[in-house]
Amino acid sequence: MTPIEEIKQRLSIVDVVGQYVTLKKSGRNYKGLCPFHGEKTPSFMVSEELGIFKCFGCNKAGDIFKFIQEIEGLEFPQALKILADKAGVQLESEFEDKFAKKKKILYEINHLSAEFYHYFLLKHNAGKAGYSYFVDKRHLAISNIQEFKLGFAPNSWDLLFQYLSKKKYSLEDMLDSGAVVKKSSGEGYIDKFRNRVIFPLVETDNKIVGFAARTLGDDQPKYLNTNETLVFHKSQFIYGLDKAKLSLKNGSAVFVEGYMDVISAHQAGFKNFIASSGTSITQGQLKIVSRYTKDLIFCFDTDAAGVTATYRAVELAEKEDMNVKIATLPTKYKDIDELIMNDRKSAEEVLKNSVPVYDYYLSTTLKKHDKNGAIGKKKIVEELTPLLSRIKNKVTLNHYIKLLSEELGIDQEVISDIIFGKTAVSASGEGSVFGEDRLLNTYRKTPEAYTLALLFKAPLDNIETFMYVDGQNTLNEKYFSNDTYKELYRRFSDVLSGEKGDFDIKYFSSSLPIELQKSAEELYLWDLDYVANDDKLLKRELEISFQRLKDLYIKKKRLEISQKIKQAELEKNEKLIHELIKVFNELS
Ligand code: GTP
Ligand code: MN
Repeated sequence: MTPIEEIKQRLSIVDVVGQYVTLKKSGRNYKGLCPFHGEKTPSFMVSEELGIFKCFGCNKAGDIFKFIQEIEGLEFPQALKILADKAGVQLESEFEDKFAKKKKILYEINHLSAEFYHYFLLKHNAGKAGYSYFVDKRHLAISNIQEFKLGFAPNSWDLLFQYLSKKKYSLEDMLDSGAVVKKSSGEGYIDKFRNRVIFPLVETDNKIVGFAARTLGDDQPKYLNTNETLVFHKSQFIYGLDKAKLSLKNGSAVFVEGYMDVISAHQAGFKNFIASSGTSITQGQLKIVSRYTKDLIFCFDTDAAGVTATYRAVELAEKEDMNVKIATLPTKYKDIDELIMNDRKSAEEVLKNSVPVYDYYLSTTLKKHDKNGAIGKKKIVEELTPLLSRIKNKVTLNHYIKLLSEELGIDQEVISDIIFGKTAVSASGEGSVFGEDRLLNTYRKTPEAYTLALLFKAPLDNIETFMYVDGQNTLNEKYFSNDTYKELYRRFSDVLSGEKGDFDIKYFSSSLPIELQKSAEELYLWDLDYVANDDKLLKRELEISFQRLKDLYIKKKRLEISQKIKQAELEKNEKLIHELIKVFNELS
């Protein structure tokens, strides 16, 4: 047995998770409030039998190691160590040593590469193009270039490769650091970044974890990044935080989109700018920032992508209990870099005039629809109430309800009833849309998965009651269109036709090919025990989802046939048309 298996066997996932989350038994699984995203009703499930967890809200899932990694923000080896100690399992330290050694080498390579690029930019003829780009085109000061240790990767195939080889680094280490890559065709190895300006990615402990490299012209991709390495994790990295962190203790962080935005802001004296590294902002990044400050200003580009990015980022920031403001750029500037370079004073104004995010939502939504007409009012309320309902503070919430009611000329009570879920904006024919039925409504939207999740929990010795009508199995594998679910159903049917008794998920899962295991285990975590334990409810839900599967199947088939009919009409194949129409009619 490996140490990992031994640790898993000795520790109960319910105990491990239970140290962080209050878990309640729910049928054969446990559930609680997800520690990874803010929620008010529990969707975080844990299975003792399978040793796994999954949140159906944010989709985080895994075993005890994954859980400790995520919740403590650690890498695997560190999580391994913590859990090994807890389980009293002796780890061979060789593994750890090797890991630490490797990291040290990668940092060294990154550091040397940064020096190499920086030298070319400022001191070498072969770096002239880069120098001119930063200094003439982007108007950066030398002191600023030095502070950010910007560089230039010369226009050659393998100068850095040669340089690092001379320093006696092994090919393996160079590849692991991302500095060198295998040629895409033919044999041999080349530098990853060539003929590009270089932005070293510096962590808060001043270590260089990777690089971003921008083309000088318009060719694509505009930026190349170091791929994930042992020391670079894009989703956890924040550009500029190493320099901004000191000024964040007593002020807001300004989150911008680009490296260049951070650098020109810094040059203009705004020391609190940070950016994500070519991805949309992640929860992990906000967790890190919130260690320094709870006050955030988002200042994104003026394009539509910028607006969508803002909405998403705000939701994540709220989960970290951060106060978010939005700074809006004058539309004639593409980004804050342009504004700062053209008009520093008004950049300062833009930041000063940033508004709390809910004022921003309110004003953008009011601008989008006609607030005087009935339809406009309905649309505004429909868009704003889900956003406002996220406000936890009662006073703040009331403030916005009042504002909205004044703007629209609608009673405050109407709006607050909608927000607190007492009524819906539109009357729904389906009865209660809240509570358990609403949950089931969501499940029903993915009928293939739902059917399987129900079947995995259904009492097998009594399964005929649910699956057979007049002695006929009403479900068939052909109704499944997703290959994974189809295969899972096929295998489940085999269990059914074999020996009956308690369905043992652990045994079932271990009999599956690895690519099916994860899906099966996740389906088992669906919080459906209360349905499975209620014969009437289970029967109803199975009937609904069987019917839905069949409807979808028939719809798909009919579509296929009508396409064939069209083709046959083109070919004037009367006989075929006749046959197809017959099949088509039989389907309904
Ligand atoms: P300039 O156009 O030089 O002002 O660059 P910018 O930093 O303002 O870039 P832009 O606004 O186009 O994009 C914002 C950020 O998205 C960049 O700083 C990068 O982090 C990232 N990004 C943009 N284009 C690419 C790309 O092609 N690949 C990757 N990986 N990231 C990109
Ligand atoms: Mn830009």
